[in-house]
Amino acid sequence: MQKRTDLIVVGSGLAGLAFALKSANAGYKIAIITKEALAENSSYYAQGGIAAVSSMEDSYESHVQDTLNAGGGLCKHDVVEFVVKQGPSSIEWLVQNGVSFSLREREGNRLNEFHLTKEGGHSKRRVVHAADATGKKVESTLVSNILNHKNIEVHENYIAIELITQSKLEPSATDCCLGVYVLNIKEEQVFTFISDAVILATGGASKSYVYTSNPDTSTGDGIAMAWRAGCTVANMEFVQFHPTCLFHPHAKSFLISETVRGEGGKLILPDGSAFMHKYDPREELAPRDIVARAIDHEMKAGGLDCIYLDITMKSKEFLYKHFPNIYQKCLNFGINIAEQPIPVVPAAHYTCGGVEVDLNGRTDLPGLYCIGETANTGLHGANRLASNSLLECIVFADVASKHIMENPVRSSIRDESIPLWDESQVSDPNELIVVAHNWEELRRFMWNYVGIVRTTKRLQRALRRVLMLGEEVHEFYSQFRVNRDLIELRNLIQVAEIIVRSALARKESRGLHFVLDYPETADQATSTVLVKSSETPKARSG
Ligand code: SIN
Repeated sequence: MQKRTDLIVVGSGLAGLAFALKSANAGYKIAIITKEALAENSSYYAQGGIAAVSSMEDSYESHVQDTLNAGGGLCKHDVVEFVVKQGPSSIEWLVQNGVSFSLREREGNRLNEFHLTKEGGHSKRRVVHAADATGKKVESTLVSNILNHKNIEVHENYIAIELITQSKLEPSATDCCLGVYVLNIKEEQVFTFISDAVILATGGASKSYVYTSNPDTSTGDGIAMAWRAGCTVANMEFVQFHPTCLFHPHAKSFLISETVRGEGGKLILPDGSAFMHKYDPREELAPRDIVARAIDHEMKAGGLDCIYLDITMKSKEFLYKHFPNIYQKCLNFGINIAEQPIPVVPAAHYTCGGVEVDLNGRTDLPGLYCIGETANTGLHGANRLASNSLLECIVFADVASKHIMENPVRSSIRDESIPLWDESQVSDPNELIVVAHNWEELRRFMWNYVGIVRTTKRLQRALRRVLMLGEEVHEFYSQFRVNRDLIELRNLIQVAEIIVRSALARKESRGLHFVLDYPETADQATSTVLVKSSETPKARSG
């Protein structure tokens, strides 16, 4: 079955929703394709907030400098400046759309100013937030606006399989993106969605690791599809591990926000001793790469299952007011954070690299845009500064939306000549155990061999395994009817291979990429750029 619309948005995190609203307000008809319910994505679970200069004590220069410092020499200066300067207007846009943020209080009275919190790597308080559930507040507000918008059609429980490109239909033609094949997960039917442009906002690929702070949706779908369609991908070795996820057998991927450390939380060993002073003068508020590596080191040295985050120096009232979500969640697991330290471990949290885009969110395939965690805009470099990601989502949703309005792309191919999804050569899968097993294997060896501290030997081991899984899944994909697990596994394997190849190509340690064979940082910072035609990563000046 074929469907036509003006613009297709794949993914419904903050980037996708912001893009959809901005473009729908300009009169475009939008189709949002999302694998689960609209609000089930990483943005929804973001706790900390949105970094934006919003006080007299702060400045754009300071936010720019903190972003560059965290990024380890790989941020694009013009992008950082541009994004930082859009901070206040991005917050304003959310407020106009009905999002209410936490306000400052004086002597029990609410002031008309945002309460600003702090996170690692920020030299000032500048994180605008809604208590400790900022993503939930932002997503749920925008979701209700989306559902009430006459120009937006929402397709929940639909998963994108593959982009449709002009060169696949007409090899001699100049390439452009025509649409996307999409599986209706519940009805097991594949649709052909056609549009003037496709916007990939599918988030990152942290599900390629067994321990992650992300929901199940983070399977790198957009990055894998764009790569298969011939787009350039960059800096994928920079996987950010959040230092503090709750360590509890039943707490699947629950984050303990960095703002807990911003408000004074101390990292301690089981004997109660602090350790961050040994690693960085900023201690608990050093950037995430440093804190996660320090924890990893302490856990390995002491043979520990976890370390602890102690915030018991704050009163129960303070904790309940600032961290109601964390307070309650921990209490459900029998941990009273006002009285006892919280057991925590690092977990895969954010994909800093992604599909290479310009300052308009454009990929190198005309008609295809990538925004949010799917993209490599140059804002994060080798390590993302906390709370810069939600800001990036809004800024790039805005520029991409404006660019499409000003530069409409039209393909020369008529809709009727775009083929429907062909299932004539495939049958129903008979051994789904292969998918389940490969999924498990991939995530475990990525954790063990491509984690916080890497070695060339471990990376080579990972590459051999990922190539083998890739072959098996390719065979499965060509013989059997697709389902969600298979589509996601295929994407994860694709992205895992890109991560491993990128990590092997970087012969130095920088930002989030720490490799024991090359512990030094090179004088010159270069990006790792993967170009589809060569399959081999090429380093390029960044
Ligand atoms: C956190 O609250 O610690 C996460 C914020 C982020 O990843 O930027």
